Order: sequence, then C-alpha cells, then structure tokens
Amino acid sequence: MWLKAVVITDPMLAHQVLSREAGLEKPHSRYKSPMDLLTSASHRSSLVTHDTNSALWRLVRKGIAPAFATNNIKKEFPRVVEIGQQLVRQLHACGPEAVVDMDLAAQRESLDVLGLVGFGVQFGATRSLLGGDKPGSALRALQNGMAEVQRHMGAQWRRWQVMRVFPDVRRGREELQRYQRVVEDLLAQLRARGPPVKDDTTIAAHLLRIVDPATGRGLPDELLAPEIGILYLAGVETSAHTVAFVLYLVSQHPEVEAKIAAELDGLGLLATARRPRPRLMAYEDLAQLRYLSCVIKEAMRLYPVVPMGTARQAPDTGMELGGYAIPPGAMLWVFFSAMFRSPHVWDAPDEFRPERWADVDAEFYIPAGSLPASAARPNTPEPAAQQTPSKGPVPNPEGWSADGDAPASCRPKRFIPFSSGARDCVGRSLATINYKVLLALLLGNFRFRLAEEMGGVEGVEASICMRATLQFRDGLKMHCLPCAA
Ligand code: HEM
Repeated sequence: MWLKAVVITDPMLAHQVLSREAGLEKPHSRYKSPMDLLTSASHRSSLVTHDTNSALWRLVRKGIAPAFATNNIKKEFPRVVEIGQQLVRQLHACGPEAVVDMDLAAQRESLDVLGLVGFGVQFGATRSLLGGDKPGSALRALQNGMAEVQRHMGAQWRRWQVMRVFPDVRRGREELQRYQRVVEDLLAQLRARGPPVKDDTTIAAHLLRIVDPATGRGLPDELLAPEIGILYLAGVETSAHTVAFVLYLVSQHPEVEAKIAAELDGLGLLATARRPRPRLMAYEDLAQLRYLSCVIKEAMRLYPVVPMGTARQAPDTGMELGGYAIPPGAMLWVFFSAMFRSPHVWDAPDEFRPERWADVDAEFYIPAGSLPASAARPNTPEPAAQQTPSKGPVPNPEGWSADGDAPASCRPKRFIPFSSGARDCVGRSLATINYKVLLALLLGNFRFRLAEEMGGVEGVEASICMRATLQFRDGLKMHCLPCAA
C-alpha cells in the first residue's frame, strides 16, 4: 500500500502538529493496527489506537488518568523500591562472575511494578531471576506476542486466513493467542475480586469503575481486555529498555559513573566498604538525584525507546505546514530519533553529554531566528542563516517575545520521548518513578561492565535494533560488580 508521508524533525512543526489545537487524528489505515491483533481476541482498538475523536478514547483516558496522578504514584513508591531491592538482592546472589542480561532483568522488574501498581497482582518475575534466567510466562507471552506484531508491521498479508497454511504464520497466531490468554486470565482475576473497593487505586480499579454513559454500566470485557492488553505492552518494555540503555552508556563513561556515584554517596544511597548497605530510598530523594536525571534524559535522547515517534493525519482538505502544502490525508510523521539527533536542533547531537541537561530549559526549543544574537542559548548551536535552509520548513516565531521568551502555552519542546499533546503517554509518571528508582538502586550497589560476549561497543551498537521498541537484539549481558567490594 502506498502512503504519502511527511517526516517532521523540526520541533516547531512537531509542536504544531501534535498540539490539541491542531486537532489532527492519528493516521487511519485500511487495515487494523497490528497492536489490535495482539491486545485482544476481538481485535478491538485500545487506548493507543482509538481515534482521538471517539467517545471511548475520552472515557478511558479520563477514567484511568487519576491512577497516574502524582499523589497516587507517590503512594506506590515503597512498593516500587521493594521490587527494585529484590532485584538488587538477586544480582548480589549472582555474584560478579555471572553474566546477567540486564535488559531482561529490568523487564522482570517493570512487569512486577506494573503487576502490583497496575493490577494489584504479584507476578514474581523479579524473584525468579535465578530460576535458570527464564522469564515468567507472562513476560514470555508478551515478548513473543510483540515479535509477532513486529512481523505484521512489515507484512500485512500475515493476517489473511489463507496464510494459515504456512506453519510460521500459524505459530505467530498462536503467540498472539497466548498473550491474549494472559490478558483474559488477568481480567478474570480482576472480575473475581468483585467491584473495586473504595481505596483501591490501581489502574485496574480505575478501569473497572468507568461507567459508559451510553449504557449506564461498566465497560464489558470485550472493551476492557484491549485496554489491559495495551497497558502491559506500553508499560513493560519501554521502561526496561530505557534502564538498559542508561546502564550501557554509563558503563562506557567512567567519568559519568563517578559523578553518579558521588551524587548517590552524598545522599547516603551508595554502598561503600564502610556502608555496605545504603539507607532506604525515600520519595524526596528523587528530586535530589539531579545528575542521574540528566544522565537518563541524555540516554533517552540518544536512544529513545519509541524512536519512530508518532504520527497524525493531514485533513482531507490538505493543509499548510511550515510553508509547505501538505497533500490531503498524508501522514505527518514526527520522527523522534531524527529530531533528537538533528544537528539543527542540538549541539554535538551524537555525543553523550549529560551536562547539557543542567540547563532547566534544555528540553525547550528556541528557534534561532527568535533570539537576539546576544542572547544565544545553548540549544541554538548554529546561527540562524545556516540553521534554516532556504527552501526548508521555516519555524513560526508567532507569539514569541522580542527577547526570545515564548508564552507558556506555546513553548515547543525539542525533547518529547513521551510524545506531547492530547495523545501523550498516560503512563509517564509511573515510568519515570520506576526507572529512576531502579537506576538509583542498581548504580548505588553495582558498577556494570559489558560481558565479553557483547563484543564491546561495536558489538552492542550493531545489536541495537527496532522491534516494536528500540532494544538490544539479544539483550544486554553484563557483569554486576558490587560497589562495596
Ligand atoms: C520510558 C517509558 C515510556 C515511554 C518512553 C513511553 C512513550 C510513549 C509514547 C511516545 C506514546 C505515544 C505513542 C503514539 O502516539 O502512538 C505513549 C503512549 C502511551 N503510553 Fe507510554 N511510554 C512509556 C511508559 C509507559 C507506561 C509505564 C505506561 C503504562 C503503564 C504507558 C502507557 C501508555 C498508553 C496507554 C499510551 C496511549 C495514550 C493515549 O493515546 O491516550 N507508557 N507512550
């Protein structure tokens, strides 16, 4: 199928396209999204794939949003720390000689966090790390299901009934069904508990409390299953691969590793010979871990786990964007990894420089043309004349004051790993707390070194691949050397 697509790497244009005011829909395909083939047996759409204009998207998004509110997530903090500590204990038990797939280890942890915080269910995936390093059945079903989604993305014909004659297609279908059974079992467990009690603040409780104004009743199972299915998909791999990319980068930059250690040490969160057991992390520590936050952002800039970003569809009447006429129905593709590494947007875009995030405004984009020369900021690497190609998209500085300050409502960002606008990531607060806690615990207890079988930096870089998310093809095998030794 031929598709007209416009790839956007200019933060101003990305901001315009993704803003609520633009009101653009996600692209419509004549095929169902491959995600929908996985998330439920009915192949109904889910939070990620509903139309923004649909009543169901608004109902579900509004219904579950309170589960991700800061206060609610803050309440879950001790449980997130406890699961992270479980992983630390497991890694200590492995010993420094062992080779551990840290990407898989982080997936186990994220699955357990989502299980508890999201559904009030214990998966025990982190505890079973030493059980032969086989992921739990839920995790395996998720990984294999995602692999099949990926195959569908490049080959729509896989969904045709007639293709079942091929054993590979049949096996793929079974993988999808295995994942759907995990989701159905979970839904059955949730139903068996009866209506959620008043103080149940899990995501599942919020989902079950949604009342459809059209029927006056809760959502039926055929609508709940895809929502549960997508929360797993969206919540586990994304956070875990982010943790793995940070560990990889830190392992290659001893000066960064030392600065993180110094920050953790200053807070009493580093294991040392004199303090082999760091103190228990508190919620307030998160705000103090400033350098670690810079490192995480820099890793997410270089390796965004959703590198292909997001897309919107131009209206049937066409539109104008950045001085270009966009054909009717064209896909407007905001390509995160291209934007996050564009030399027009970042100074030394391919370098790992956590320090660039020390500027609190670093995530905002300041178009070069809107600044007086004397007010050049760190994120305006080139003079305007060189930065704006003569026929390229021209940033629209409308609404910007003469001294380069944007009104709060129109501050385009050049760093949007969680997307932006109405369809931004609803799980961001949970993801952020999870990866920050886990990284503080891991880097407070261990120094991580690549295992020989990774083939050094060249081997790792060659193994980075795009499945449904950006990841290491065969995991990230590392040695965990205790800091206190
Ligand atoms: C590092 C972690 C994460 C990253 C980088 C991330 C990134 C994103 C991005 C880029 C989108 C927009 C996708 C699109 O437009 O097609 C998105 C949407 C979404 N994410 Fe996340 N995500 C993360 C973690 C999570 C977690 C932990 C959850 C839930 C537990 C979650 C649930 C969702 C959902 C439900 C949507 C769809 C929202 C909507 O369209 O209304 N994500 N995420």
